[in-house]
Amino acid sequence: MSKLLVTGRKKLSGEVSVQGAKNSVLPILSATLLARGETVLYNCPDLSDVEDSVNILRYLGCKAERSGQTLVINTDGFNRCDVPDSLMRKTRGSIIFLGAVLAKTGRAKLSLPGGCEIGLRPIDMHLSALKKLGAEIRERRGCIDCRAPYGLSGAKISLDFPSVGATEQVIIAACLAHGATTLTNAAREPEIADLADFLNSCGARIYGAGEGEILIEGTGSLSGCAHSIIPDRIAAATFMSAAAATGSEIVLTDVIPAHLGAVISAFEDMGCKIKTDGTKLKITAPASLKPLKAVSTMPYPGFPTDAQAPLMAAACVADGTSVFTENIFENRFRHTRELARMGAEIKTCGRVCVVYGRDKLYGAKVDSTDLRGAAALVVAALCAEGKTRIGSLRYLERGYENLELSLSSLGADIKKI
Ligand code: EPZ
Repeated sequence: MSKLLVTGRKKLSGEVSVQGAKNSVLPILSATLLARGETVLYNCPDLSDVEDSVNILRYLGCKAERSGQTLVINTDGFNRCDVPDSLMRKTRGSIIFLGAVLAKTGRAKLSLPGGCEIGLRPIDMHLSALKKLGAEIRERRGCIDCRAPYGLSGAKISLDFPSVGATEQVIIAACLAHGATTLTNAAREPEIADLADFLNSCGARIYGAGEGEILIEGTGSLSGCAHSIIPDRIAAATFMSAAAATGSEIVLTDVIPAHLGAVISAFEDMGCKIKTDGTKLKITAPASLKPLKAVSTMPYPGFPTDAQAPLMAAACVADGTSVFTENIFENRFRHTRELARMGAEIKTCGRVCVVYGRDKLYGAKVDSTDLRGAAALVVAALCAEGKTRIGSLRYLERGYENLELSLSSLGADIKKI
């Protein structure tokens, strides 16, 4: 089991390119099933979550080859409608295959998805939306059996909560439905618009993605296209946390600053200077960070829940007390226990977490508990005095492509052992 060994308190400097968005490429890989022939996806990060989705495509009979950051998918061999538990359990993103397989074949037999243990993560909104589109769904012993023998039919769907996954599920399932579907209270995350851009390039007719109301006009068939995945705004926020925690100045390239509004303002509240120019973002951290009076995670364009843990790691060495409220997932403070091993002083109560800034953290042996919690431990290790060993790297590898190489190129003393 590989580990990371970090020797902290090294200043970072230089430039780093930000990877393609994990949470964009995952739904787009499922959506390729709707399109005939070949799809070429550029800027695909090489992550275990992505590999797990590619393996589901291969299991379903598709061809999928990676060369560097490019994935070439061919769905002509798509000939199954079931996905085994062993493949479904690996990621949360696997549930988005449900709508795609059902829409294309009229049948889908999948088990419940996996993913980071940051809460119960039910799929009730996914299933109720598919039922509104005409799916007959039976759930038995963790297995979901869906049928739509006459295809799906457009419907008016309103989500109780702007769920990213449920929004993606509806967009994908409605593309080949008979008639039009309107989705209200849709998630507005940039990854939703990227999915719609991809599907529209395949011939779909999706309007309003990125807004709260989306219209999908069903079309008979779609054909593959070439598409470049948007940059990963959470990876960008993670590098910004590393710069803030170490009092450094770095430049991120290949980002879309417009996707980072709430993140930029949080770092500015901590006293960081942020300059953006096209797809470049320069962050200059102060010698001592100001605390964050109130960070509340919200659906986009609010502060993203995925950036809460890395930002909290930086707040551990701020000059004062910061308060975080986690409104999206009910169990997303698991990294606080490991941060405490490094000397962080943190109190959690339900969805609220109070971080009493310390002048320094100390290296320790820590273990990651989920993807973004692992990222928080890396950020903390970069500013801690001494050596930190971070275990369970499988979580980090789900969402960050060669994070240790990128950070060492910025001057960090970090290596995989
Ligand atoms: C996506 O998860 C992302 N994952 C998550 O990123 C991200 O944190 C989340 O959106 C919110 O932005 C992928 O895109 C693969 P939701 P998803 O449906 O779709 C509840 C990361 O670290 N809910 O918006 O699962 C749910 O339990 C990961 O990269 C229901 O109750 O998130 C949660 O409390 C972590 N019923 C809230 O809604 C449902 O049917 C938001 O979940 C669906 C969701």
